Amino acid sequence: MTERRIIIALDVSSAAELRELVKQIKDTGCRVKIGKELFTSIGPLAIEICHDAGLDVFLDIKFHDIPNTCAKAVRAAARWGVWMTNLHCSGGAEMMLAVREMLEGETHRPLLIGVTVLTSMSLAGLRQLGIERDLESHVDYLAGLAHGAGLDGVVCSGQEIQRLRQSIDKDFCLVTPGIRPTWANNNDQARIMTPAQAIAHGSDYLVIGRPVTASEHPQNAIARIVSEI
Ligand code: C5P
Repeated sequence: MTERRIIIALDVSSAAELRELVKQIKDTGCRVKIGKELFTSIGPLAIEICHDAGLDVFLDIKFHDIPNTCAKAVRAAARWGVWMTNLHCSGGAEMMLAVREMLEGETHRPLLIGVTVLTSMSLAGLRQLGIERDLESHVDYLAGLAHGAGLDGVVCSGQEIQRLRQSIDKDFCLVTPGIRPTWANNNDQARIMTPAQAIAHGSDYLVIGRPVTASEHPQNAIARIVSEI
């Protein structure tokens, strides 16, 4: 079902706004993403509100710390029952492995997704960090590290889907933000792709925020996106 491949970014900062949005989304079949702003604002209540409405939660915290701390933080997320969460691949293979191994003893294991290179990062930014590879090679390198450490997939931009699909096995999950239906405003997203293009290129999950959440009728917006796909 196409709706199960759509993750709605709940980029709000209060429980009241969240409840309003959840009311609109709960019967659509889509999943939802809780990001740093919402989680830092209202904490695990955000997860509870979504779970009470029967929604699967992608906790987008982008964990990055020493292996032991990172593993225990992700375990705490797992214990909240989230469906998916993510960590920075640049935390290193040891950190990613520690997280994966920590989750092996848990009854619930969320999908673990790696963040390769943030789309806000430029080549100059990489050089500043002392990284000599170009952006594409560094994304591929980090995605390979994540795959090797047993993560379930990576976040990637529309431009990267086909390349990663070819270089890493089919089961590796690709999660793609920066999605804009043909009829939507681009907002601040520069390198966008339509939902249909992203799916055709091989993305597994589409992260879509404002085209749905800023719409007067979120349910209609989702229905249009699904029919476009
Ligand atoms: O409203 P919009 O569809 O642009 O929201 C996209 C969501 O995906 C936001 O929560 C944003 O933080 C997130 N995201 C992104 N680009 C990335 C990683 C995450 O837009 N490279």
